[in-house]
Amino acid sequence: MNNQYKTLKNQVKIPSIGLGVYLMEPGDQTRCAIQYGIKAGYTHFDTAQLYQNEQSVTDALNGLGIKRENFFITTKINRLNHGYDNAIESYQQSLDEAKLKYFDLLLIHWPEGPIRKETWKALEHLYREKRCRAIGVSNYTIKHLEEMKEYAEILPMVNQVEFHPYLYQKKLLNYCQKNDILLQAYSPLTHGEKINDEKLSKISLNYNKTNAQILIKWGLQQGLVVLPKSTKEHRIQENFDVFDFEINNNDMDILNSLNENLRTCWNPSNVE
Ligand SMILES: NC(=O)c1ccc[n+]([C@@H]2O[C@H](COP(=O)([O-])OP(=O)(O)OC[C@H]3O[C@@H](n4cnc5c(N)ncnc54)[C@H](OP(=O)(O)O)[C@@H]3O)[C@@H](O)[C@H]2O)c1
Repeated sequence: MNNQYKTLKNQVKIPSIGLGVYLMEPGDQTRCAIQYGIKAGYTHFDTAQLYQNEQSVTDALNGLGIKRENFFITTKINRLNHGYDNAIESYQQSLDEAKLKYFDLLLIHWPEGPIRKETWKALEHLYREKRCRAIGVSNYTIKHLEEMKEYAEILPMVNQVEFHPYLYQKKLLNYCQKNDILLQAYSPLTHGEKINDEKLSKISLNYNKTNAQILIKWGLQQGLVVLPKSTKEHRIQENFDVFDFEINNNDMDILNSLNENLRTCWNPSNVE
């Protein structure tokens, strides 16, 4: 199976599918999922301080003898760790626990409130110090991103948001593309809510693929980095087996018309 990459505006390459590890238990469950992931071809892993499994992810990778430069790992500053000093201290703790010199990508998990400006200054500092290879945000709306132009010295390279055909955030996607911010799709499988939708199943039949594979491929064809999560070996494999087909324009149009503003996770629209 063929991995593919996107290039961030600072030229860092990022594999276009990452294994999400949200709600994976630290310890054996996370370690097994990472092992299955590596076997299937994943080299990109999406964790967060909130998930409490940063250490399990890197333990698994080290246990497999994967060289540091051969995997891409993201973490995110937790909501409780906003503020300049808190962000830096908590990030150092994440590095220590994961026994890493750097994460590849460091994100602010949630826009929180005015304090996000201080937190961003901390990320800029960490980036300049080369303690991460790229910085970005998560759950930021256009309003939050526009505001960054007023206070940021380095603009975000990534915005990670919920994105799937049932939450087709086209305006946000256009904005990010125009501003050279790579959009990452979290909950690309709708957290399981729409995985058996009949409209989706009809399209899957055309390609002899599963509904999950269609959802992931749709995200890739939108130009996104896609972050599906599973703990099961056969699904982890299935979710990566999407590089041997293309969804045609007609079916893309049908998928593009499924939007119902469905949010399966957080809604940041009202965060001031
Ligand atoms: N930045 C943020 O605020 C944020 C928020 C949410 C998520 N995320 C990131 O995005 C990742 C993915 O999001 P998510 O975990 O919410 O949801 P998701 O990937 O959309 O869906 C995961 C659910 O779908 C099931 N599943 C996985 N593969 C499947 C398949 N091939 N067929 C049928 N069902 C399948 C999983 O169950 P099994 O595990 O039992 O297979 C799980 O219940 C997270 O792990 C995290 O890294 C980020």
